[in-house]
Amino acid sequence: MIRLQKYIAESGICSRRKAEEYISLGKVFVNGKKVTEFGVKINENDEVVVNGNNIKKQPKEYYVLYKPRGVISAVKDDKGRKTVVDLINTNNRIYPIGRLDYDTTGIILLTNDGEFANLMMHPKNKIQKKYIAKLDKIIDKESINKIKQGVIIDNVKCIPDNIKLKKIDKLSNTCIVEITIHDGKNHEIKKIFESIGFNVEKLKRESIDFLTLENLKPGESRKLSIKEIKKLYSNKK
Ligand code: URA
Repeated sequence: MIRLQKYIAESGICSRRKAEEYISLGKVFVNGKKVTEFGVKINENDEVVVNGNNIKKQPKEYYVLYKPRGVISAVKDDKGRKTVVDLINTNNRIYPIGRLDYDTTGIILLTNDGEFANLMMHPKNKIQKKYIAKLDKIIDKESINKIKQGVIIDNVKCIPDNIKLKKIDKLSNTCIVEITIHDGKNHEIKKIFESIGFNVEKLKRESIDFLTLENLKPGESRKLSIKEIKKLYSNKK
């Protein structure tokens, strides 16, 4: 069962607010009866007519995208910058699951399935996201241990699932660190390193759970298979 205004919005014909307007104007019929109140719950078998048109729910879509640098993780941007949705060829109203910063590259999922988006983002489901970060200085064992024990980000203790020093470049005095987390606060990785005095110069998300960027180039995407979607759904606690 789903609220009528949500059902209309998910069909892709208008926003939820516009759907509420149509309902209050008496332009929505469910199984032939006019509905003018919000919150009426309907199911897949109900016939919904808006402005004389029988609407169908959008088919669910699931994409994995290799986000390039300089693209915003949103549906629309006020400043007219390119968004991750612009990189996907679909007529359905998909949106990114969580976000990567404008200058971060890597794997991001997009969908129009709200339940799936919630399950992928909720920390209780412990979905691991692995990042590769280039730091502005060479990190020592002590600093790595500090992060392992947990640092405070936005008043909450954050303990990564894993952190490993991958490479040191003595010439440029920088290093590459791999770090895996399962929650998703804004700018979390940058804040983790900032909290112990390091700046992240480059950041890439390499994987989300078992999904990687295999066979994708920056800007490229592919649909998830049913098997992959089911496997991700099985993370639900
Ligand atoms: N953490 C960050 O700091 N930036 C991202 O884009 C993702 C995680």
